[in-house]
Amino acid sequence: MTKPKDARIKIAIQKSGRLTEHSLELLQRCGLKYTRGPDQLIAYGENMPVDVLMVRDDDIPGLVRDDVCDLGIAGMNIVEERRLHFLERDPAQPFRIVRQLDFGHCRLAFGYPEGGSVLSKADLAGTRIATSYPSIVRDYLAREGIKAQVVEFSGSVEIAPSLGRADVICDLVSTGATLAANKLREGETILESTAALLQTPVAVPEEKSAWIGRLLQRVEGVLQVRGSKYIMMHAPRSALAQIAALLPGSESPTVLPLEGRDDRVAVHVVCRENVFWETLESLKSIGASSLLVLPVEKMLA
Ligand code: PRP
Ligand code: ZN
Repeated sequence: MTKPKDARIKIAIQKSGRLTEHSLELLQRCGLKYTRGPDQLIAYGENMPVDVLMVRDDDIPGLVRDDVCDLGIAGMNIVEERRLHFLERDPAQPFRIVRQLDFGHCRLAFGYPEGGSVLSKADLAGTRIATSYPSIVRDYLAREGIKAQVVEFSGSVEIAPSLGRADVICDLVSTGATLAANKLREGETILESTAALLQTPVAVPEEKSAWIGRLLQRVEGVLQVRGSKYIMMHAPRSALAQIAALLPGSESPTVLPLEGRDDRVAVHVVCRENVFWETLESLKSIGASSLLVLPVEKMLA
């Protein structure tokens, strides 16, 4: 018999860090309302059978692999590190990477001490590399045929060279401020990262999987909406093909007559990409006027 608590979907997200706010916001946009007391590590969904567990990001892939959580949101840096780690022990894929999300952009890159002898990856042979991502770095070194020593640090990797514990580092870079503050120059990127949505590889009960399906469809909708704009304009009827070419994803626009004008029409399109000023200027140059770009609130394909 299934215990009632097992009927609820558990989603692991980062407790505090660069992904926390965005992860909660994504779930809210999917319609989730939750209560969360101060310092509480579980937020209970009020209107869906969904609970959000606030955990250390490094633990998220393992929680999803072990089916403690059905879903998880973590940076690809951590997802890939843990994936390689688990694969060394068990060839089965530890979790499903459902899709990459549109936040948490950063990169895993080398940091070389300013004024040091390592200028690029060509100088890495024989060095000690400090990192919190030993599996990714070893995998990279093996692929590049570089023989170097990986020194594992769980945090504060940037200070390893000045402590004499390593020659270079490989760590997450977002703005680059941490590297600069530690007199390190950014080197080659070995992984471009965004947040990703993970799903357990374990089969779940039917009632639960139906809700997971709905949630994943809503996530898809939220991401599409964020990248989409509704555009309205007046334009020469003869320019319709040119307009479609300028606006990706606008293959079948709504074309409406304008009172008293045979040559010009009103055009409404959903564009599945952000619309930049340059595009509006191009539209204007082919005769469009009264251009309006509106955000899309919800979308269900
Ligand atoms: C990362 C990384 C650096 C910092 C880089 O840590 O370890 O310290 O961010 O960011 P910057 O280029 O904008 O200065 P993070 O905040 O992700 O913490 P964690 O590694 O402990 O999860
Ligand atoms: Zn972390």
